[in-house]
Amino acid sequence: MKSLIIYFSRADENYAVGYIDKGNTEIVAEYVQELTGADMFKVEPEIPYAKDYKTCIEEAKKRIGNAPIREKLGDISDYDTVFVMSPIYWGTYAPEVETALEGLDFSNKKVRVICTHEGSGLSGMPADVKKMCKGADVETTGLAIKGSQAKESKDKVKAWL
Ligand SMILES: Cc1cc2nc3c(=O)[nH]c(=O)nc-3n(C[C@H](O)[C@H](O)[C@H](O)COP(=O)(O)O)c2cc1C
Repeated sequence: MKSLIIYFSRADENYAVGYIDKGNTEIVAEYVQELTGADMFKVEPEIPYAKDYKTCIEEAKKRIGNAPIREKLGDISDYDTVFVMSPIYWGTYAPEVETALEGLDFSNKKVRVICTHEGSGLSGMPADVKKMCKGADVETTGLAIKGSQAKESKDKVKAWL
């Protein structure tokens, strides 16, 4: 059986690490991919976020509960394990992650939660993922990586897997 990584990540101006070409969560997602061989699905907002952090914060606030994405996954029946990965935005996943999870059939799948953050840890993300992934066995512990330490997180990811 196969694993799938569903992740959201934003490059450009970041809270703790300045302007970056690749988002912190994407860095960690690539480690998970490398270590598990999982397929990857990147959740892309329909309208990209602003490059500067301050504007992005304003935009993200408005997208809570209404965050259109470019492409939705359809059938995920090939996978027995799904990694859901996101930066923490106000104590939970980015709004686009909710849109990506909506409507997928998670029956009998194992769901593992990973976030990057700058202090909050996983917060409400595992509970919110559980709400969206009906029928799945959602791990409530999960893995929280500090965004500014994403590059150095490979061993931590490996140990957790
Ligand atoms: C809109 C927004 C809201 C955020 N809210 C939180 C938060 O509530 N708690 C926290 O620890 N970090 C918060 N952060 C910081 C991000 O979670 C952190 O920088 C993360 O590593 C970014 O991941 P990315 O580079 O993959 O997008 C927030 C960042 C943004 C842009």
